[in-house]
Amino acid sequence: MMPHGFAGILGTGRAVPERVLTNADLEKMVDTSDEWIVTRTGIKERRIASPEEAASDLGYQAALKALEASKVKASELDLIIVATITGDMPFPATACIIQGRLGATKAAAFDLAAGCSGWVYSLEVAQSMVKAGYQRVLVIGVDVLSKITDYTDRSTCVLFGDGAGAAVLGPVKEGYGVLASDLGADGLGADYLKLPVGGSRCPSQTVAIDDPGRYLKMSGNEVFKFAVRAMGDSTQRVLEKANLTGEDISWFIPHQANIRIIKSAASRFNIPEDRIYINVDRYGNTSAASIPIALDEVVETGKVQDGDLILVVGFGAGLTWGSAILRWGGVE
Ligand code: UT7
Repeated sequence: MMPHGFAGILGTGRAVPERVLTNADLEKMVDTSDEWIVTRTGIKERRIASPEEAASDLGYQAALKALEASKVKASELDLIIVATITGDMPFPATACIIQGRLGATKAAAFDLAAGCSGWVYSLEVAQSMVKAGYQRVLVIGVDVLSKITDYTDRSTCVLFGDGAGAAVLGPVKEGYGVLASDLGADGLGADYLKLPVGGSRCPSQTVAIDDPGRYLKMSGNEVFKFAVRAMGDSTQRVLEKANLTGEDISWFIPHQANIRIIKSAASRFNIPEDRIYINVDRYGNTSAASIPIALDEVVETGKVQDGDLILVVGFGAGLTWGSAILRWGGVE
């Protein structure tokens, strides 16, 4: 394997379920209102997977599109990383299921769990692997949080949606690709966002079928405070590492959890509003999928030029955070 100096994105893709769940639909399910949801979160609707649809189905569809966009064949992939906390099963890895479906026989495959920061974490792992000599690495962010959401709990069920986003990484020209990154975690906040049942601490066989621990639990306020701080601080660090300022950034693509968190983080760096990408209104919080879905939508507009600087930043369960700055293009 030949090491490479620079690793970047060759192509992107996304997939979301067909079913739309609107705020009006939620008004009929729990004591909430469109007005509360829009003003507190910015969300208007989200996509919800069908009963048959699992993480690998959405991840596979996003992967096909990313392979097509990057003109890479599945058989050329050396590695597949799937960032998810709602894989098809605890094991085998969803990455292996997708590897089999794609026919990516040469690729190693593993999952990575860092909550909503998962795709930024996997981007960092992928770019390191490309620099170590891997030629083609597929990174998928997929989550199907609707499967672990309690639709009688208004404090969480209005927030989440399902989806997948993907990118293929490979060697790029000097000065392009991932220029800097910042990953971190604060495990003391592990209790603030979790799925209590179904692991080795509390196996699902030991609890009743209607045990509330079978659903995602979140201390919204604690996560909110952490998110504002972590997104801002991580953005600051990654800008410093790349020797850039907010004004240099062409596209700011934050994790889409809450419009208030996004605006508060962006306001620290003088990033003009038209450079901040927002789709939380249409998808809600899709966890590890949110940044790659947003990136794919930005690329699809055709406005991303060769040489543009893209800053991605996320936070999530763990608690974790991650950010990266990429110079777009430079594909050899
Ligand atoms: O990707 C990481 C995942 N997590 C997050 O990003 C979540 C981060 N946290 C948040 O986005 C916000 O904390 C929430 C959107 C979850 C909540 O917003 P908030 O402004 O922090 O509201 P709150 O939790 O302080 O609740 C305010 C009030 C409460 O009523 P009282 O106690 O003031 O009477 C809640 O019971 O709003 C009530 N409330 C609702 N009302 C209508 C909570 N959920 C709802 C709802 N509809 N869906």
